[in-house]
Amino acid sequence: MLRVESISFAYGRQPALREVSLKVQPGEVVSLLGMNGAGKTTLLGVISGMLRPKGGRVTFENRQISGLAPSAVVEAGVVQVPEGRQLFGPLSVRENLELGSYVRLRKRQHKEVARDLERSLALFPVLAQRLEQPAGTLSGGEQQMLAMARGLMARPRLLLLDEPSLGLAPKVAAEILGVVRDLPAQGCSVLLVEQNALGALSVSQRGYIITGGRIRQSGSPQEILADELLREAFLGPRRAFGGVKDKKAEETS
Ligand SMILES: Nc1ncnc2c1ncn2[C@@H]1O[C@H](COP(=O)(O)OP(=O)(O)O)[C@@H](O)[C@H]1O
Ligand SMILES: [Mg+2]
Repeated sequence: MLRVESISFAYGRQPALREVSLKVQPGEVVSLLGMNGAGKTTLLGVISGMLRPKGGRVTFENRQISGLAPSAVVEAGVVQVPEGRQLFGPLSVRENLELGSYVRLRKRQHKEVARDLERSLALFPVLAQRLEQPAGTLSGGEQQMLAMARGLMARPRLLLLDEPSLGLAPKVAAEILGVVRDLPAQGCSVLLVEQNALGALSVSQRGYIITGGRIRQSGSPQEILADELLREAFLGPRRAFGGVKDKKAEETS
């Protein structure tokens, strides 16, 4: 359903994506794994129409979406949940959710919006108890749930999730990834960007590893976990995962 074909992108003269190709089929959760700076957010920005690629194209349900404005990409059925949640803190949970369905509100489809609100809240019952509370007063996990629920208000058939488990306690992260796993059953496929490779692969049908703006590997979760590249992609030659110095990598490089 989503086809990214040979996408290249540069910030000024600094290349960030080099001929990236990947696909998401209907009913799949696909993870895109890579360390900080690998190009994950940039790729989501290209898919959602925020960034114009230098080369290549993106199609969704056999229709070209690269070149469309971000709002047109949303109307085509692809919604991005940004890194860092990006909620409106002073606005209530309900108001934040309603912002996710601005297209329908503009068309005055208030009944439809009420139905979407119900569906979103069914996935995240804790938000139903917080509807009139300012979004800024929610916990980190609840804010991530709100960001996802807001994205779902637009009734996407593909959700682009940018590091949903970042900064969350393991138990909360697992809860959120559990909802991600169940989204395809609700008619929403997922492209899941994560540094948390184990967590992401545990809810995915397939995965890709990206380093330095290039896709380096793809396959089933088992294939990716077995691959030496996974370790390399996350450690890098002189870097360590999770801030712990990797002595062996330093000695041998
Ligand atoms: N707005 C920007 N201007 C210039 N360079 C950027 C910008 N955003 C990201 N980059 C650079 O592009 C590369 C990829 O970044 P990004 O897509 O954010 O990676 P990731 O999401 O995998 O951490 C990095 O080298 C980063 O420094
Ligand atoms: Mg990022």
